[in-house]
Amino acid sequence: MRSLVAGNWKMNGLASDALDRAQAICAKAGDGLPCDVLVCPPATLIGTMTRAFQDSGITLGGQDCHAEDSGAYTGDVAAPMLADLGCSHVIVGHSERRRDHAESDALIASKAAAAHRAGLVAIICLGESATEREEGRASDVVSAQLAGSLPPGATPDNTVVAYEPVWAIGTGNTATPADVAEIHALLRQQLVAALGEDGNNVRLLYGGSVNAGNADELLAVDHVNGALVGGASLKPDDFWAIVSAGRSA
Ligand code: 13P
Repeated sequence: MRSLVAGNWKMNGLASDALDRAQAICAKAGDGLPCDVLVCPPATLIGTMTRAFQDSGITLGGQDCHAEDSGAYTGDVAAPMLADLGCSHVIVGHSERRRDHAESDALIASKAAAAHRAGLVAIICLGESATEREEGRASDVVSAQLAGSLPPGATPDNTVVAYEPVWAIGTGNTATPADVAEIHALLRQQLVAALGEDGNNVRLLYGGSVNAGNADELLAVDHVNGALVGGASLKPDDFWAIVSAGRSA
């Protein structure tokens, strides 16, 4: 299956530096995309970035959306608004939102359903904490998160699942290929149980301190169909090294 490498810029970037970054990335994309490439800028920059990445083949995504399509929700962004700006994807259930905004699995499933209604691909994030891993509960935790966060109607065309162990995010502590293989095999099994044959075609991304030096190894693991990249996605050379590690088949 064609890999997807997605950059999550998180809450970083003003128009000037984001335009420079987009230009540098587009220059690299000029030679062709070895896999599908997605950039998820802060909401304030999506419109500008849609124009900056126009004709590059790189698609744009949001970092979160509300579960409702519109309404009195001050400060929130609805999935149809992201679609209106030209987004193809939206991240839901990132561990930073689970942590900072107390987002539950049920809420994340509602957000993913809202993404689907708007015609967006939902990237549903999962991952255990350091304590949960130390206690030997990593598999149980991610399995429960997947069961609770996957909305009815999920298909390979509208859903991507990203395994991002919380302890690996922004720390430089990458999960070992063996740890990643174990969790991704479990997620694949669970997706097949939930969706039948379609479960084999849902892309599974790994995220957590993916960088130019470890991308080849991580993207070669069974059932790893791409990467969700934080810090390294802010550096065009590093991001492109990761994109280049993505497989086209
Ligand atoms: P880092 O790549 O900075 O560890 O962040 C991963 C992440 O949270 C992507 O969503």
